[in-house]
Amino acid sequence: MEHVRIIGCGKAAGEQKITNNDLENIVETSDEWITTRTGIRSRYISSSRNTSDLAIEAAANAIQSAGINPHDIRLIIVATLTPDCVTPSVACMVQAALGLNEDNIMAFDLNAACSGFLFALQTASSLLQEGYGLVIGAETLSKILNWEDRSTCVLFGDGAGACVIERDEKASMTFYARSSGDTAHALYCGSRSLQKDMHNVKEDKQYLEMNGREVFRFATRAMPDAIHAVMQDDDIDTIDLIIPHQANRRILEYVSKKMKYPMEKMIINLDEFGNTSSASVPIALARAWEEGRIRENMTIVLVGFGAGFTWGACRIETGGKQL
Ligand code: ACO
Repeated sequence: MEHVRIIGCGKAAGEQKITNNDLENIVETSDEWITTRTGIRSRYISSSRNTSDLAIEAAANAIQSAGINPHDIRLIIVATLTPDCVTPSVACMVQAALGLNEDNIMAFDLNAACSGFLFALQTASSLLQEGYGLVIGAETLSKILNWEDRSTCVLFGDGAGACVIERDEKASMTFYARSSGDTAHALYCGSRSLQKDMHNVKEDKQYLEMNGREVFRFATRAMPDAIHAVMQDDDIDTIDLIIPHQANRRILEYVSKKMKYPMEKMIINLDEFGNTSSASVPIALARAWEEGRIRENMTIVLVGFGAGFTWGACRIETGGKQL
């Protein structure tokens, strides 16, 4: 358990809203298929702004919502699987954009696919000693989608979510994080091949591929597993809000039924944003924050799953102050 609390949240989205009807002009699909199988009605796609731009906008919004002096930030972690480039990290780009030139900041990226924000929040909570931590999930998944593959391109979107944390003895976060190391292509996006000949770089499966059914089976096991782990012996009924990874409404309905936890107490925005991978939990968190749904003395659970496989949850006790 870490004694930290979230003091501000922000979000950003790709500039172009693409509806299911728009996708009917790109691949052989229908609004009816996408809506009934996934619950997704639209997603935001970024054609001119990269992952760092979305991360910077979400970070600026989170800093404004926290009302802090950004020069007191000591740690920046960006969860992403779609960074602008191999190096430098998106986190260092955010640092530069915020003008944080002090020599007392650590900034780095982390990739745990769609569980990335949860892993980043846990890492930041354990690393942060003083000042503020900025934790961001940011993606431009549209870069790695095969726009001829209807089984994947309809599911994802671009966006970023961010939060500012500080140490606070009156609040707590309890984490659970796991990886299976089962990388057998249920969810896979390649990169460059190794070059035996030391020349002639070839692309290797650079688009996202997914075995939807396998991911579905995994997700419906992993989410209840992670929620129970952070709740330990406490009743699931005592959770005021669940903020889940936004992959598919059917997965969330399954989890709700299996755990006898009402859908109304889950924050769901996949209908508008689609699946934004590591940005999905912090975008939903930022929405709940903006709507004033996060208050004093609440128990909130963030939960997610992703490629790797990775999965995890964070139980937040907001304590006496607002989260
Ligand atoms: N439009 C129309 N038809 C489609 C589309 C589409 N966009 N995509 C697939 N189909 C077709 C298939 O070709 C197939 O046709 P066939 O029966 O003629 O072969 C049919 O629909 C059924 O395909 P399935 O893949 O079996 O459909 P399923 O009911 O399993 O739904 C889905 C697919 C929505 C992807 C589901 O498996 C799912 O949600 N899985 C989990 C995916 C997920 O959570 N992904 C996020 C993981 S990434 C992450 O967050 C870490």
